[in-house]
Amino acid sequence: MNASASGMSPRGSISIREVTKIYDPDGAKVLAVDNCSMEIEAGEFCVLVGPSGCGKTTLLNAIAGFHGITTGEIWLDGELLCSGARTPSPGADRIVVFQNGALFPWFTVLENVTFGPVVQGGMSKAEAHDRARTMLGQMGLMGIENNYPSEISSGMRRRVEIARAMMNDPRVLLLDEPFRAMDALTKTVVHQFLLDVYDKSRKTVFFITHDLEEAIFLGSKVYIMTTRPARIKKVLDVDIPRPRDFRALSSATYLRLKQECIEAVHEEALKAFKAGEREMA
Ligand SMILES: Nc1ncnc2c1ncn2[C@@H]1O[C@H](COP(=O)(O)OP(=O)(O)OP(=O)(O)O)[C@@H](O)[C@H]1O
Ligand SMILES: [Mg+2]
Repeated sequence: MNASASGMSPRGSISIREVTKIYDPDGAKVLAVDNCSMEIEAGEFCVLVGPSGCGKTTLLNAIAGFHGITTGEIWLDGELLCSGARTPSPGADRIVVFQNGALFPWFTVLENVTFGPVVQGGMSKAEAHDRARTMLGQMGLMGIENNYPSEISSGMRRRVEIARAMMNDPRVLLLDEPFRAMDALTKTVVHQFLLDVYDKSRKTVFFITHDLEEAIFLGSKVYIMTTRPARIKKVLDVDIPRPRDFRALSSATYLRLKQECIEAVHEEALKAFKAGEREMA
């Protein structure tokens, strides 16, 4: 049951307020994010697209608590997560799924999925195994629970990582190009899987991608970033009804949004390219 259906207030709203992040390796200042603001509603499937190096991962890492910001504030459900003066800390309420995957190769699927709740969350092994079996069953992953990561396909591994993230019942799922290296066919399977997980849980999702089709197919809103330093250039409301399946890919709304997205991203990519040429000159 999702939070709103149970009468609880939904969790996972993120407020990014005038955030600036300057990296300062050896005194060489890099302005990665410049005065960026976003209001992400609880339960929103938020997708970020933008040119390479524009600051997307920097923003995600700040929400995850992996590093601080220089100025501005990030709030989660009305609580200050970090500001220029307050360093964030990582937490099980904000789980990251990375593009290169991070399953323990020496653990089975079941052990991987239960590791966090048992070791960090203090759950009993029996309870974690029960919960994991139910979750893997709901996600269509039963049957591989005793396999090791090397014995299952890359698409399966990615689904197990998402299942592992969901075991912690996070407020926010942070996904940094999780399907980047996948072939098109595997992508269709993991897309449908993530859409199902989202429909069932209505977790807030913060998803980064370079794939514009993926952005529109999955997202409720697509935030198009400017070339570095990152700001929001445009926000697209994806008014394609859920649940979605591959048929959405041929709808008029999808095609219109894709065109809008391509135009905005192309403009920024050209700017990034020209800026690169200037730096080289
Ligand atoms: N630890 C760091 N120290 C110094 N500069 C950094 C650091 N991490 C990132 N940067 C710089 O900050 C800018 C933004 O990087 P970031 O990784 O956030 O971009 P991105 O939008 O995620 O790019 P990509 O799409 O290629 O993943 C880049 O110019 C990058 O070189
Ligand atoms: Mg990145």
